[in-house]
Amino acid sequence: MVSKIVLAYSGGLDTSVAIKWLHEKYSADIVTLTVDLGQQEDFKSIEEKAYKVGAIKHYTIDAKEEFARDYIFPAIKANAMYEEKYPVSTALGRPLIAKKLVEIAHREGADAVAHGCTGKGNDQLRIEISAKALDPSLTVLAPTRDWGMSRDQEIEYAKKHGIPVSKAAKKYSIDQNLWGRSIESGPLENPWNAPEDDVWEWTTAPEKAPNEPTFLEITFKGGVPIKVDGKSFDPVALIQHVNKIASLNGIGRIDHMEDRIVGIKSRETYECPAAVTIIEAHKDLEKLVLNRRELSFKKLVDDKWTFLVYAGLWEDPLREDLEAFINKTNERVEGRVRLRLYKGTAMVVGRDSPYSVYDFKTATYDSSSTFDQSLSRGFVPLWGLQTVVSRKVLSRKSESP
Ligand code: ARG
Repeated sequence: MVSKIVLAYSGGLDTSVAIKWLHEKYSADIVTLTVDLGQQEDFKSIEEKAYKVGAIKHYTIDAKEEFARDYIFPAIKANAMYEEKYPVSTALGRPLIAKKLVEIAHREGADAVAHGCTGKGNDQLRIEISAKALDPSLTVLAPTRDWGMSRDQEIEYAKKHGIPVSKAAKKYSIDQNLWGRSIESGPLENPWNAPEDDVWEWTTAPEKAPNEPTFLEITFKGGVPIKVDGKSFDPVALIQHVNKIASLNGIGRIDHMEDRIVGIKSRETYECPAAVTIIEAHKDLEKLVLNRRELSFKKLVDDKWTFLVYAGLWEDPLREDLEAFINKTNERVEGRVRLRLYKGTAMVVGRDSPYSVYDFKTATYDSSSTFDQSLSRGFVPLWGLQTVVSRKVLSRKSESP
C-alpha cells in the first residue's frame, strides 16, 4: 500500500477526479504538481482547484528553461521529426514531468507518483518508464487507466464529490508546451475530415497571413540557435520569439497519420511554428557543413534518437550514446540561416558558416573553376560499371526463350 502520492496535475477533469479517487482508494495524502513547460495556463487557478479538490500540498514548477536547454535543444540537433512530420513536442515534455514528479516525491517523502494518462496513448510510456528508471522503488499509479469509469460516470463522480466540471464538454484533447500544441480526437478521428478552424489556436490561417514575406535570420552555434535577426536570446525567449513570428505567417500546422507505440494508428494535428522553422534552418545548415557520408549516417542516428524519445525511452542510455555522435557533428553547425516566411511556408533562402564545405572554386561554372573535368572521363564509366553490366545481363535473360 502507499501512503503519500505525488500526482502530475493539469487542472483538467481527469486529474481532478484522480485527486479524490486516489485519496479514497489508497487512503493516501495527495500532493499535486503542475510543471510549467510553457503551456501558458493560469497556474494560480490550477493551484486553487487542486486545494479545493483535496490536495494537501501543491507545487507549481517553472521548468521552461530546463525544457528548452536540455530537451528541445537536443531535439534541434537531432532534427527530431517523428515519421518525418511530428516534432515530438508532447513527447519531449513527458520525461521532464516524470523527473519533477520524482524530485517532489523525494522532497515529500512520498512512496508513489501518479499521472492522468490513459492506456491508449504514448504518454503513459514516457512518464512511467522515466519515473521508474529514475527511482525503481517508487510505485507509479495511473488512475485514469485503472478506474474503468466512462466519461459520463466520471462526470457523475465529479459532481458527487463537488469537483468543478466545465460546462462545455471538451471537443478535442489538447496538450501544449513551448515546442508545440497537440490537438486530437473529436471530429479529427475521421481521417477524411479536414481539421475545422477551431483546431488552430496559435497559427494564423496561411491564406490570411501577410501578403508580404517576412525574412528571418537565425544564428546557430554548436548546433543550437543563439540569435534571431542578430539579436541574442536565451533559449526560452528565442523559441517564444520564433513561435510568434512563424505563427503570424501561418507556419507549423501539421496533419498527420501517426503510429502510436501501443499499435494504434491515429490521426493527429499539431501547431509547431518554432519547431518547424528552427529545424528547417538547422537541417539546412548541417547540409552546408557536413559531408555526404556524415549526413547519411546522421540521418540514421537522428531517426533512432527521435524514435527513442517518441517511444518513452528518454532514460535509455542509448539516447546519450547517440548524442555523443550528434554533439560531435554539431560542433561545426555554426553560422547563419536566412528564411523566407510566407503564407504557411518557411523556406531557407540563404546560409553561411565558417565551417562551410561548399567551395565556390570547385562548384562554379565560370572560367575560374579549379575543378578538373578531365578526371570525370575515367570516373563516369567506373561509377556506372555495375549498372551497365547488370542491364546487359538482364536484357540477355529477357531475350532467351
Ligand atoms: N500523439 C502525440 C504524442 O504521442 C500527442 C499526444 C498528445 N497528448 C494528449 N494528451 N493530448 O506525442
